[in-house]
Amino acid sequence: MAQEVRGVIAPGKNEPVRIETIVVPDPGPGEAVVKVQACGVCHTDLHYKQGGINDDFPFLLGHEAAGVVESVGAGVTDVAPGDFVILNWRAVCGNCRACRRGRPWYCFSTHNATQKMTLASTGQELSPALGIGAFAEKTLVAAGQCTKVDPAAAPAVAGLLGCGVMAGIGAAINTGNVGRGDSVAVIGCGGVGDAAIAGSRLAGAEKIIAVDIDDRKLTTAKSIGATHTVNSKDTDPVEAIRELTGGFGADVVIEAVGRPETYKQAFYARDLAGTVVLVGVPTPEMKLELPLLDVFGRGGSLKSSWYGDCLPSRDFPMLINLYLQGRLDLEAFVTETIGLDDVEKAFERMHGGDVLRSVVVL
Ligand code: APR
Ligand code: ZN
Ligand code: ZN
Repeated sequence: MAQEVRGVIAPGKNEPVRIETIVVPDPGPGEAVVKVQACGVCHTDLHYKQGGINDDFPFLLGHEAAGVVESVGAGVTDVAPGDFVILNWRAVCGNCRACRRGRPWYCFSTHNATQKMTLASTGQELSPALGIGAFAEKTLVAAGQCTKVDPAAAPAVAGLLGCGVMAGIGAAINTGNVGRGDSVAVIGCGGVGDAAIAGSRLAGAEKIIAVDIDDRKLTTAKSIGATHTVNSKDTDPVEAIRELTGGFGADVVIEAVGRPETYKQAFYARDLAGTVVLVGVPTPEMKLELPLLDVFGRGGSLKSSWYGDCLPSRDFPMLINLYLQGRLDLEAFVTETIGLDDVEKAFERMHGGDVLRSVVVL
């Protein structure tokens, strides 16, 4: 039987979000209905609301979530009702060229639910944010989007791995391949940059240099694991990073702002053989200009990191276990827990500088 539950809808471009009754169908083959317990508020939800992703309104927002599987459709064997899961927005197919070549994080045939959730009032089909739509009491996803993890983890914490925190940790441990003894610089210490700091610490980096223009962010970055901080408002970060790394530059520089000027800083602040990881998301009109000779004259690599190059089935359970063992502080990323009714306000607070993550708890 289809069910009616409450969900947060973005009805049209730049319109405030509102709570509506939505219809969640029974799971079909390969699908699951999940009772959402927590869902973090991510920049991408705001971009959906602003019409910055596409025009497929109305959106059912929310995509950084954990919950309990309520029911599964035919053929689902990896998860069962009662399982505690983190939802992921890249359920890999296992069968495309990328998957077959051992790089499933580049899978271009990822799974989402086939059926649509609808608005109870009009019957209109909803577009779930990143194929998830978890600012709702229940949501319908592809079973492959559910990754089972240890239920001892609090949902508000576990859900964060579904997007921003995974993006940051993965930028360090997967894309940047940070290793023991490395020097790492992280430019931009919001939720994503701080997660990259946590990931670098986990990977055994020796120096972790946090760069931001806001001293409050640097204080938090230090509490998460930065060994040095640089306020790039008053100091040239490239010079500062070189100085802190014996004149060489950092082995890995992670750009977590998404702007040409900070990317340039990252480019010049790395060691000649170092790696630059771009995890900040630029806007379409942004351009980067670099002397080609500088690209030629430096070795190393320039990479971008999408969803932290994560493989949910591998990374989510591991990171949850490290958290439960006290080796990864995920609680530091939860600034506040709020109700479904507070999502609009959480968007407003997003750019105030005090919030790493607001998490809706149901
Ligand atoms: N130099 C250094 N830091 C900067 C600069 C700059 N020029 N401009 C902004 N920052 C800092 C801000 O002070 C803030 O601490 O970058 C941080 C950005 O953090 P948030 O706005 O909280 O964003 P976050 O959620 O961390 O995401 C960062 O990654 O996944 C992407 O879409 C996301 O592009 C965004 C980026
Ligand atoms: Zn694939
Ligand atoms: Zn997100």
